[in-house]
Amino acid sequence: MNRYIRLGINIDHVATLRNARGGNFPDVTKAAKIVEESGADLITVHVREDRRHINENDLKNILSTVNIPVNLEIAANSEMIEIATQYNPKFVCFVPENRKEITTEGGLDVAKNFKVLSKVLKSISETKINLSIFIDPDKEQIKATKDLGISTVEFHTGSYANNFIKKENIVRELKKIEENIIFAKENGINCHAGHGLTFENVPKIAALPGIIELNIGHFIIADSIFNGLQNSILKMRNIITQAST
Ligand code: PXP
Repeated sequence: MNRYIRLGINIDHVATLRNARGGNFPDVTKAAKIVEESGADLITVHVREDRRHINENDLKNILSTVNIPVNLEIAANSEMIEIATQYNPKFVCFVPENRKEITTEGGLDVAKNFKVLSKVLKSISETKINLSIFIDPDKEQIKATKDLGISTVEFHTGSYANNFIKKENIVRELKKIEENIIFAKENGINCHAGHGLTFENVPKIAALPGIIELNIGHFIIADSIFNGLQNSILKMRNIITQAST
C-alpha cells in the first residue's frame, strides 16, 4: 500500500538570492504560491537570528497568501519564540543555530540543552502550534525529546547525504536512521527527515517505513534554476511517491 509522505518545501534560498541584491526579486511570496500550486504540503522557512534569508515580513506575507500550513524553523530562544507566538504558524521546528555556519550542520543537542529548552518551551506550549525538534538520529536525543514532552522529531539527514557517494557509508548511515525511526516509534514519536536531500538520494529515505514528512530546500531551489520551481517540486513529489510505494 502507498504510504503518503508529506512534502515541505523550504524556500529560504529564494530569499538568499533576493538578499544578494537587496531588492524584491525573486519574490518569496510568489515562490510560496508556486509551492502551494505544485501540490506540496507545507512551506518551510527558517527565520535565523541574523536574518540572512527569510525575515518576519516574508513570514507574514507567506502566512497571509498561502492556504497550506507553514512550518517555521527557529532557534529555541525567547526572541524566536516571541516571533512564533506572534505569527502563529501551524508548525514550529526547533533547530540549532550557530552564527558562523553556512547551513544547519547537525541536530539540536536536546539532551545537553534540556534545562534551557524546558524553560523556553513553557510559553509556546500554551499555543496550538505543533512542535518538532531537528535532531541527529540518536537514541539519547530521542529520549530527551520525549522527556521534554515533544512528540515529533525531524531527523537530520546531512550525514547520510554527505556520505551518499560511498556505498558502505550509505548502508551505515541508512541503518542509523532506520534503527532510530524504530526506536522513536516505540516511544510514540513521529518521524520527519530532511537536509541535503536530492532527486538521487531521497528514494532510500522515503522508502524507510515510519517517515511521514520530508523537508527539502536547497536542492529544489537550485534545480529550479534550470527546470522551473513547479517542475522541480513535481519531480521530487513523484520520486518520493514512487519510493514509498
Ligand atoms: N529541515 C530542517 C530542519 C532544516 O533546517 C533544513 C535547512 O537546513 C532543511 C530541512 C532543508 O535542508 P536542505 O536545504 O539541505 O534541503
